Amino acid sequence: TDQPTASGKRVVVAAPRGYCAGVDRAVITVERALETYGAPIYVRKQIVHNKHVVENLEQRGAIFVDELSVVPEGATVVFSAHGVSPAVRDEAKERQLHTVDATCPLVTKVHHEAKRFAREDLDILLIGHAGHEEVEGTTGEAPDNVTLVQSPADVADVEVRDPSKVAWLSQTTLSVDETMQTVSKLREKFPELINPPSDDICYATSNRQAAIKQIAGHSDLVIVVGSANSSNSVRLVEVALEAGAKAAYRVDNAGEIADEWLDGVESVGVTSGASVPDDLVTGVLEHLQSKGFPAATEERLTEESLVFALPPELRRDLRKGA
Ligand code: F3S
Repeated sequence: TDQPTASGKRVVVAAPRGYCAGVDRAVITVERALETYGAPIYVRKQIVHNKHVVENLEQRGAIFVDELSVVPEGATVVFSAHGVSPAVRDEAKERQLHTVDATCPLVTKVHHEAKRFAREDLDILLIGHAGHEEVEGTTGEAPDNVTLVQSPADVADVEVRDPSKVAWLSQTTLSVDETMQTVSKLREKFPELINPPSDDICYATSNRQAAIKQIAGHSDLVIVVGSANSSNSVRLVEVALEAGAKAAYRVDNAGEIADEWLDGVESVGVTSGASVPDDLVTGVLEHLQSKGFPAATEERLTEESLVFALPPELRRDLRKGA
């Protein structure tokens, strides 16, 4: 039911939330790789930015490494959903590693755009966050052409070789609104700025932001389930606050919800980032019930049906029963 309880308390959970097609595929890739090739399977970086997912796969025999140099020769290594630069692929080849690429196809699309713009000798203004693995991977496709732009405030300092030969690209998991602000500032400065052929911010990022926006304005508190290094989860907190939530916090799980956050709160909105298994959201909803809140109602903005096939190199080995 959608009725507030006698106390007026209300919990609304946003949809879409949680797993996107790219995360689902990346996690299944590691699971199938473990079944097909046997443990250990090495994974370069966190397969997706969620500590629960990573811990669960670790228990099943995945070994997460930051650098390929620590992977034994000949071992199987999975590239994470965030993508890798060509230098990492070359290193894997040199070291004769057996690679399975779980890069999200929507990240790969941005890599292709970067390569094409670089071939056209354009300067590429990449909107994204320094140090994020996806930004490192995309930059690596065209290191001489890419300049990172982190926020609208960065635009003033951006310099290019030729203002008539400039294009922009972005990380897939940014705030849609802030990115549009950055782009319009860039366009003021470079009126001939070339757009990417299609949106780089992915469908999952935009849907999750739009869904929490609908709820945030009438929420005293918004809880976003997601890990601290998950870009899209951190954006959901910002988006909720901008959309009028009185308070918004990110938690890895229900255990991180402080009792004080609930003081005087009537309406709670809940959502989760694209790398978050839904049982963690269920845990949050159960925790809220244990604190006197009613069962949640779901507010769905749109349906999602996108599914990505597993990496071809893995499918081939699955068919062979490697
Ligand atoms: Fe891919 Fe977007 Fe998910 S880029 S991994 S579908 S958040």
